[in-house]
Amino acid sequence: MKDIVIIGGGPGGYVAAIRAAQLGANVCIIEKDKFGGTCLNRGCIPTKALYKNAQVINTINKSRDFGITIDNYSINIQDIQNRKNNIVSSLVNGVEKLLQENNIEVIRGKGIIKDSKTVRVELEDGREKEIKGKNIIIATGSIPDKISIPGINVSGVITTEEMLEFEEIPQNLVIIGGGVVGMEFADIFNALGTNVSVIEYLPNILNGVDSSISKRYKAIAKRKKINIMVNAKVTKITKDDGGLQVYYETKNNEKTIKVDKVLVAVGRKPNLSNIGLDGTGIIYEEKGIYVNEDYETSVKGIFAIGDVNGKVMLAHEASHQGIKVVEHIMGLEGKDSNEVIPSCIFVFPEIACVGLTEEEAKQKEIDVKIGKFMFSANGKAMTMGEKEGFVKIIANKDNDEILGVHILGPHASDLIHEGVLAINNNLKINDITKTIHAHPTLSEVFHEATLDVNDISLHILPKKKI
Ligand code: NAI
Repeated sequence: MKDIVIIGGGPGGYVAAIRAAQLGANVCIIEKDKFGGTCLNRGCIPTKALYKNAQVINTINKSRDFGITIDNYSINIQDIQNRKNNIVSSLVNGVEKLLQENNIEVIRGKGIIKDSKTVRVELEDGREKEIKGKNIIIATGSIPDKISIPGINVSGVITTEEMLEFEEIPQNLVIIGGGVVGMEFADIFNALGTNVSVIEYLPNILNGVDSSISKRYKAIAKRKKINIMVNAKVTKITKDDGGLQVYYETKNNEKTIKVDKVLVAVGRKPNLSNIGLDGTGIIYEEKGIYVNEDYETSVKGIFAIGDVNGKVMLAHEASHQGIKVVEHIMGLEGKDSNEVIPSCIFVFPEIACVGLTEEEAKQKEIDVKIGKFMFSANGKAMTMGEKEGFVKIIANKDNDEILGVHILGPHASDLIHEGVLAINNNLKINDITKTIHAHPTLSEVFHEATLDVNDISLHILPKKKI
């Protein structure tokens, strides 16, 4: 009997397996597809490879700003695809090597829970086998959600998974959904030369992001000619010789738009199908498997981590939950940190956030002080030609504790971790302002924003606030 049987080899499952092996557990992991899950194969990594292509194009397009004239360039889609696929396969191979070197038993097939201690595996070669485990971790991830409107299944209406494998650059693209996925694809294809329209149901794109960031980003996106329609609902899609006709309703009008591709990016849903949940006593609903604070399901000894529990659909959170569950199983209960979860959005410029937004602080009736500092006043950002954006700090008015950090700007996804560290450790504004930040770096914007919380930022004219 295994100590731990893990179903699913994404960033939740494979990280849990490695941590279990480190702690001396007898562990096995069952995977029906490629290791690395959505993140490595169909999500974070391939999109970031394409993001880099878009960034190179953006740099070429403004090369004159750097005194360099590039008269002509061409895009080789096959080379773009090869580069992306090589990155993905080298990372997938890396995960397999890690599992192997940690002596983790890998079982290739589909894992189905039979009872609280047994997983039935439909092996790749058609045979079946049963694995017994004292503990079972479900880490089966999520799949793209769909909307049920007429025409959603016509060819040319695709998910992100198909979009990643593009063979030609669409001339006109409609993206349904202005969330994280929708806007990342909007910016990539905008850079590749596509006319991109985003149709978002809610009053705002990037819902949940601090509104000063999402509003500023929306203005930047519009300037790049990304056509953003909010409060808009797609009602049907039809196909004729000329392409796809997307019908949508705004407050007062019914409109149509003609495109060659429609990308559906309306969210993801937990992957619950055919994993044997029914009849086991595991309580679940469409939005995820119910878990307690230890990520244990309603059946003792069966845990659910990552997207499948529907709590936070982020790769780094899945890995974190995996480590926590394994340490709990192995009796290594540590003192919990605050568990603040950063999130990064790879648009141009990047967005990264951690902790409370200004709106959330207001809802919780916390009195806050806000500090902001623009990248346009930072030497390093100027030399990079990336002056767009700002760092925003939210601090508790009573005790100066840092509650939220929100960044729109170059390398936001790298800069955010100073904020993560601060909030995770209940740091106060002074803890940052008294810390020397190297010059010339983008981190100085973070430092100045914390100074601005108490109106003492240095590189801004007195009284000239943003
Ligand atoms: P999402 O939930 O963030 O956004 C979906 C958007 O589609 C929402 O704004 C919603 O209002 C809109 N929508 C839904 N139905 C619609 C309709 N019928 N018409 C128009 N708009 C409609 O989901 P998304 O962007 O697909 O991302 C899925 C998950 O993956 C999220 O949890 C996200 O945080 C995560 N993710 C994170 C990334 C990152 O951290 N960089 C990258 C990609 C995904």
